[in-house]
Amino acid sequence: MLSLNFSKFPILYTERLILREHVLSDAETLYAMRTNETVMKYIDRERPKDLLEIKTFITTFNDGFENGDNLAWVIAAKEKPEKMIGSIGYWRTDYANHRAEIGYMLHPDYWRKGIISEALKRTIDFGFIDMNLHSIKANINVENNASRQILLKHGFVKEAHFKQDYYFRGQFLDSEIYGLLNPNH
Ligand SMILES: CC(C)(COP(=O)(O)OP(=O)(O)OC[C@H]1O[C@@H](n2cnc3c(N)ncnc32)[C@H](O)[C@@H]1OP(=O)(O)O)[C@@H](O)C(=O)NCCC(=O)NCCS
Repeated sequence: MLSLNFSKFPILYTERLILREHVLSDAETLYAMRTNETVMKYIDRERPKDLLEIKTFITTFNDGFENGDNLAWVIAAKEKPEKMIGSIGYWRTDYANHRAEIGYMLHPDYWRKGIISEALKRTIDFGFIDMNLHSIKANINVENNASRQILLKHGFVKEAHFKQDYYFRGQFLDSEIYGLLNPNH
């Protein structure tokens, strides 16, 4: 059985990082990240209008966890757990097929230090072992080479290229879909 319902939010640790639940005091950092055009360059989603929208977003993450719909972690350094530097999580859980989509973003000050790699490795293990996912999906903008490279590095394979299947800001954009199968199944 696929389980996304945990009695307590699953805090995860890696060598350098803590992956913890979002709290309302992360709102300003999350807002800054989601309105930063360097971070959002290949994330084709409307930017949040204000802090209130972000606070609602955080509540939705936390409610989603309680309902078993998604699982979104704040990435922070172990020695400074209150300072959010990025996020990673599962969403669009497809229960029938034991498949969930992973997404991640990191503040540019921390890029190319292996941080998302470290967080991704831990969350993939959690997805396969604790959530019992059968496969993990990632959906990237075809121009997002950094994200493509990180996925390939973690064993994802390209499963599809959809032509102009996504409408954003007046344009139909292509999507590239990557997938990773649970090696224990
Ligand atoms: C993509 C992103 C998450 C990478 O995070 P990161 O912590 O800098 O990545 P890592 O340092 O763990 O890099 C791991 C590997 O990914 C690849 N990679 C990361 N950034 C890259 C870049 N700018 N160009 C090419 N490859 C890159 C490399 O293979 C790298 O391994 P290497 O450093 O040994 O060469 C980060 O650039 C980001 O937040 N971008 C904006 C948000 C975003 O696009 N999210 C993904 C949406 S699908």
